[in-house]
Amino acid sequence: MKKYLVLSAFSLFAAAAVFVLVAACGPTGRTGPAGDPGTAVREEAAGSGADLYKKDIKPMAPEECGRCHAYQFNWLKDKGGKHRQDCVFCHEQFHAYNPRLDNWDALMPKCADCHGMPHENGFSDCMECHRQPHAPLVIDFAILEQPISGEGGRTELACAKCHAGEGTEFADFPSKHNSEVNCNGCHAAEHGAIPSCLDCHSPHLPTQEYGDCLECHAPHSAAAIRQYSENVPNVACSACHKEVYALLQGNVTRHSAMQCATCHPTHGQIQGCRDCHGEPHGDVLHQRFIDCLECHIDPHNLPINLRK
Ligand code: HEC
Ligand code: HEC
Ligand code: HEC
Ligand code: HEC
Ligand code: HEC
Ligand code: HEC
Ligand code: HEC
Ligand code: HEC
Ligand code: HEC
Ligand code: HEC
Ligand code: HEC
Ligand code: HEC
Repeated sequence: MKKYLVLSAFSLFAAAAVFVLVAACGPTGRTGPAGDPGTAVREEAAGSGADLYKKDIKPMAPEECGRCHAYQFNWLKDKGGKHRQDCVFCHEQFHAYNPRLDNWDALMPKCADCHGMPHENGFSDCMECHRQPHAPLVIDFAILEQPISGEGGRTELACAKCHAGEGTEFADFPSKHNSEVNCNGCHAAEHGAIPSCLDCHSPHLPTQEYGDCLECHAPHSAAAIRQYSENVPNVACSACHKEVYALLQGNVTRHSAMQCATCHPTHGQIQGCRDCHGEPHGDVLHQRFIDCLECHIDPHNLPINLRK
């Protein structure tokens, strides 16, 4: 930011210098009304002397600029996005470059004049990433995945600086993805690409699709099983809990109609019988048998143990 302020102060100074020089040396390709020469012009025969300069010049349309500047025009045409404006919307002044004045930088439009600093964390050298001003969304992925120096001299990726939410989650819930894949390993090849888990993993069950994975795994904290919904199908749990699943589905009690996730709302959590049923049989019985399962055997296989 400081660097930018110094730069912009410098460019203001440079612009002022150019203005003085331009005022002294005469008008250039500045757009807008040409302005009065100031002094009265002597009448002369048409087609000679000062008359030659009496006519207002019609500004060129972009396609006319494009005749000579096909390179810039074609970038705008093909990939210009919202930069597909009139050239002079940005190039208020042009064809005024003079190596002796060393005024190239002063002439060129400045991203920050229109955009300010849109990214946090000091990405002030806009054209380091946005290399083609006439196609501002064309950004080379190789630049984004270059390691930069981060906190405490560690090298890191720029990704997390702009995507702070994902970056923080990723750092707070480390898994093998941090050491073996990282942001650019999953979001590979081009900026904004979204991977499928199935690009690299087989599903737990052959019927599962990519969208099912996100029910239990958040992509940026994949090893910490997330809060799944109560509707997650029982068969999804069966991939790893075959016996319990077989017992429950093979049963004809009213528990069989229930979702695993109703009794196990987060992975590994177990709701007790009393959380739902209280103590239905009267104090005497419950004081004698603390554990409901002494008679009811198994919540997934409820036939009542009549011998107790
Ligand atoms: C949205 C703003 C914008 C528009 C619209 C725009 N330019 Fe540019 N142009 C820039 C910027 C920014 C730069 C380069 C800045 C730098 O190099 O510091 C630039 C640079 C240039 C250059 C210098 C060489 C180069 O490619 O870097 C030429 C020539 C040029 N533009 C021509 C055009 C023409 C012709 C059009 C219309 C067909 C046009 N520009 C439209 C912003 C614009
Ligand atoms: C007849 C050909 C021609 C046309 C038409 C033309 N230019 Fe240029 N322009 C040039 C040449 C030649 C240069 C200098 C070499 C270079 O940088 O490509 C140049 C340089 C530039 C530059 C960079 C240097 C500077 O002094 O600004 C910009 C910006 C620019 N032109 C913008 C425009 C815009 C905007 C239009 C239309 C309004 C336009 N040009 C129309 C030939 C043309
Ligand atoms: C003269 C003003 C001006 C300059 C200079 C300028 N831009 Fe823009 N830029 C705009 C406008 C206007 C838009 C469209 C904004 C909108 O509609 O949200 C835009 C849009 C963009 C977009 C989004 C494009 C899209 O299609 O969604 C990017 C990225 C961008 N500018 C980057 C830059 C960069 C980088 C520079 C310098 C190289 C720059 N701009 C210079 C005016 C400018
Ligand atoms: C480290 C690389 C990098 C730098 C440096 C950088 N940008 Fe960006 N910028 C990006 C990326 C990546 C995007 C997202 C592009 C997309 O949507 O595909 C982006 C998007 C934008 C957008 C589009 C608006 C939005 O938020 O979606 C604007 C405007 C923009 N940048 C302007 C600038 C300006 C101005 C500077 C300099 C002050 C700058 N950028 C510096 C990488 C960078
Ligand atoms: C300079 C800032 C910047 C950097 C650096 C950056 N991005 Fe982005 N990224 C953006 C912006 C701006 C967008 C578009 C707006 C949005 O969706 O947030 C975007 C979009 C994305 C998207 C698409 C989001 C969606 O909703 O579809 C993904 C994925 C992404 N970036 C991943 C990455 C990865 C991975 C890296 C590092 C290799 C990275 N980005 C580097 C600014 C940046
Ligand atoms: C294991 C692969 C993987 C890794 C590693 C990974 N992501 Fe993602 N990322 C994904 C998937 C999958 C999605 C799509 C999630 C969805 O559709 O809900 C995503 C979505 C995103 C989005 C878009 C968010 C949105 O809400 O649209 C951004 C931005 C992003 N990731 C940035 C990052 C950053 C930054 C890193 C590194 C800190 C990173 N990712 C690491 C797989 C990964
Ligand atoms: C670009 C390849 C890639 C993608 C895409 C990917 N992973 Fe991974 N994943 C790996 C690698 C490599 C490992 C570490 C080696 C292993 O365990 O297979 C891993 C490990 C894991 C682990 C174990 C983590 C640990 O620390 O034990 C889980 C859980 C996981 N992935 C889930 C997912 C989910 C869910 C998705 C989709 C959001 C996904 N992965 C997308 C490559 C990937
Ligand atoms: C119903 C919840 C659930 C769904 C849906 C789910 N997972 Fe898992 N996954 C888990 C649990 C729980 C673990 C942890 C097992 C452990 O701790 O060993 C796990 C572990 C993993 C692992 C680590 C290695 C392993 O096999 O133990 C990978 C890789 C993985 N899942 C990928 C996926 C993919 C890919 C999908 C989508 C096709 C998916 N998961 C869908 C719950 C789920
Ligand atoms: C990818 C395999 C996998 C999937 C899918 C899976 N689990 Fe597990 N589950 C495990 C493993 C491994 C353990 C034991 C290690 C642990 O405690 O994390 C476990 C532990 C449990 C426990 C605790 C057992 C105890 O003795 O404390 C319960 C309850 C449980 N899972 C229920 C579920 C439910 C409900 C689902 C479906 C929403 C499910 N699991 C999906 C692998 C899985
Ligand atoms: C998440 C709540 C929940 C938990 C935990 C729970 N149950 Fe149930 N249970 C139910 C519901 C709902 C029914 C069906 C009630 C109905 O239809 O009136 C039921 C029915 C029953 C029935 C009657 C079965 C039938 O087919 O008539 C028995 C016996 C029972 N539960 C015992 C238990 C025992 C023992 C435990 C602990 C191991 C337990 N329950 C844990 C919710 C729960
Ligand atoms: C009515 C509530 C209820 C339902 C529905 C239910 N469970 Fe359970 N589950 C329990 C209770 C209560 C326990 C603790 C039993 C104990 O203390 O021995 C338990 C224990 C477990 C355990 C660990 C002990 C063991 O038996 O391995 C796993 C794993 C498990 N359940 C998985 C599942 C799966 C998978 C489903 C769906 C197919 C499911 N549960 C459906 C209530 C339920
Ligand atoms: C001494 C054995 C025993 C113990 C201990 C026991 N139960 Fe039962 N329970 C039974 C019997 C027998 C039935 C069947 C009654 C019937 O069919 O009317 C039953 C029925 C039930 C029913 C179904 C009631 C209905 O109206 O359909 C529920 C719910 C239940 N028990 C919950 C519990 C809970 C919760 C506990 C622990 C706090 C528990 N039981 C402890 C023997 C027991």
